[in-house]
Amino acid sequence: MKRIMIGVAWPYANGPIHIGQVGGCYLPPDIFRRYHEMKGNEVLMVSGSDQHGTPVTVTAEKEGLTPEETAEKYHKINLKALRDLDVEFSLFTYTMNETHKRVTQDIFKTLYEKDYIYLDTMETFYCPDCERFLPDRYVVGTCPECGQEDIDGDQCDECGVLLDPPDLLDPKCKLCEGSPELRESEHFFLRLSAFQENLEEYLEDKDHWKNHVLNFTKSWLDRGLEDRPISRDMKWGISIPIEGYEEKKIYVWFDAVIGYLSTSIKWSEEGEGDWTKFWKNPDAEHYYFLAKDNIPFHTIIWPAMLMGYDEDLNLPYDVPGNQYMRLGGEQFSTSRGLIVSLPDILEDFDSDPIRYYITTIMPEVKDTNFRWEEFEDKINSELVGNLGNFIHRVLSFSYSNFGNVPKAGDLDDRDKEILETIRSKVETVGANIESRKFKKGLEKLLQLSREGNRYLNERAPWEEIKEDKRRAGTTLNISLKIVKALCIAGAPYLPHSMDELWRYLKHEGSVHDQSWNEAFEPLKQGLELEEPEPLYDTINLSDMEQESQLSESLKKLDLRIGKIRKVEEHPNADRLYVCRVDIGDEERTLVAGLRPYYEKDEMQGKKVVVLANLEPATLRGIKSEGMMLAVDCDEDDTVSLLSPSADLGENIKGSERGAPQISFDDFKKVNLKTSVWRDSKVITEEDTHLEPIKNDGFEGIGIALVGDKKKKCLILEDSEGVVRTDKDVTPGCEVK
Ligand code: MF3
Ligand code: ZN
Repeated sequence: MKRIMIGVAWPYANGPIHIGQVGGCYLPPDIFRRYHEMKGNEVLMVSGSDQHGTPVTVTAEKEGLTPEETAEKYHKINLKALRDLDVEFSLFTYTMNETHKRVTQDIFKTLYEKDYIYLDTMETFYCPDCERFLPDRYVVGTCPECGQEDIDGDQCDECGVLLDPPDLLDPKCKLCEGSPELRESEHFFLRLSAFQENLEEYLEDKDHWKNHVLNFTKSWLDRGLEDRPISRDMKWGISIPIEGYEEKKIYVWFDAVIGYLSTSIKWSEEGEGDWTKFWKNPDAEHYYFLAKDNIPFHTIIWPAMLMGYDEDLNLPYDVPGNQYMRLGGEQFSTSRGLIVSLPDILEDFDSDPIRYYITTIMPEVKDTNFRWEEFEDKINSELVGNLGNFIHRVLSFSYSNFGNVPKAGDLDDRDKEILETIRSKVETVGANIESRKFKKGLEKLLQLSREGNRYLNERAPWEEIKEDKRRAGTTLNISLKIVKALCIAGAPYLPHSMDELWRYLKHEGSVHDQSWNEAFEPLKQGLELEEPEPLYDTINLSDMEQESQLSESLKKLDLRIGKIRKVEEHPNADRLYVCRVDIGDEERTLVAGLRPYYEKDEMQGKKVVVLANLEPATLRGIKSEGMMLAVDCDEDDTVSLLSPSADLGENIKGSERGAPQISFDDFKKVNLKTSVWRDSKVITEEDTHLEPIKNDGFEGIGIALVGDKKKKCLILEDSEGVVRTDKDVTPGCEVK
């Protein structure tokens, strides 16, 4: 049994996690952890929200919140998003917690007492107009290394170089865009130069590191380590624990890396285990997962801090830093554009398809692009078409022809060969995960299911069963063994669906509590199988895009439920009424061409749907402040008002209260038609059969918002259900 500590880079609590970061540093450690747990190793995996420093205060100022509020808000959002992606930690905390503050101040003080931290003066930027110091991200300018413009003062995301604001070319105050001036101020410095030799020695046995991580680290050492300022003139952060300097704050990076240790201690304080078994045990291995912009903090600064603080503490064993995964690709991503954050993508897709695709493009050796077209293609052809399909074919054929796990009869050479394939593939999946080659491991898993599909096609149990049920049983028994092996070896990658599959196989407990070698153990015999559902659905982005366009166009309308209080004839037009309509918080005058179709009495007190954000128009001298929706029915030679059931003042679902004003021409572009439900489709006209979003069947006539491509539609609903017309009309009438 090994002990493994996994540190995962702490996301700044200044925004939702981006999908690029998922491929960079959140998914890899979760795969690694799940595998090691199945191997029987003890794992401690920690991380949390990085809540201090200018990344958070800049966002807070932008959002009009306090730094605390911003830090708490995004902590909650990201904690939930990671959980929804099934990325699980021993503890995922945040840097505002007390244990963290205590440990951080203790490390600062200890290093100060040992003279690894010292006080000196330095020049930092000050903005005379804003009358404040400008730490890190409060200064923007051009990168002195790569020439990228408009970068933050602490780091260039483009080339990865770490900076102090005075290094920037053409520096500007982020707040007022004015030119900052340099002012002398006292600061604390980490004496990195004192660790040069120890770090060089530390790197000597790190041949197992990725090339780019090792080279980057070596190039820092080759240039000679410089002491770095680790205090800041700002209000937000952990106070410097030295008398007289409490007003200054500890630099966010100095505090954040300590999170790995403080969270392990907190985990112990919460009674979960003994942190020293992971941190003061020379046999424990420490892995840090992060993207390339975080490398020097983990390969130089953090090891130096640990060496200086307590030489019994374990240093990083490996720092498998990834390159960047960016959002790239054509068409779809630009029009869709919206989905770049983890919480957003989780609204539209299940966690396992997301994990699957992101693993296939993990930026393990070079930068990669997330492409929507490729996402759709890989899910449909690989996850659904290969893995999912094999599993489903085997399960459903066994279920319908045997009802339980069939027994194996005599094995021929081909059977024995495929059993050998199971063993070798599962072992290579494991070996790849172990050496942090997650992409390769997943490829091997897919090769096994491809072999499975091939074996199944060769054997054709649907033919075998006609002649020799026993032989068909053997084929299925072996195929189910492949399924079981896929389930075990796939569990670190696809934790949700593989756990579901485990239940289909009628094994007890969770697949995540099994040992890796269970992949080679016999199947549970004799238990009844249940009817399997496919584990994955195909994805159709074009359909989804149509759906999101429909919701977008409904959002542009403020459709309010109103009640007609008063009806009068228009003095200058014999087709028009002038009505006073209550829409909840106000009363409006609406002019409507309903005189040929409605008596005054019929309209009195009626509930109607009002387009409340229509630009006012003057009709024959009277100003109409909106419009009552009605359908115009040529065929029936009538006009009918829409007749909602919910309460006065409520909005039609999906329409937006307070939406910006629209013109009548804009409204005419929204295609609203009466429709009926027939044979699982919505029918507007004889040959237009639409797929509704959400509504599965409704009675009578409804109102459909029809998309441009005439394939999808959205049925208008209020809180009481489908909105109907007042009179009986035929489908296909337009709402005006
Ligand atoms: N918050 C930093 C980032 O998003 C990462 C901090 S990692 C830790 O780039 F070491 F500080 F934990
Ligand atoms: Zn300024």
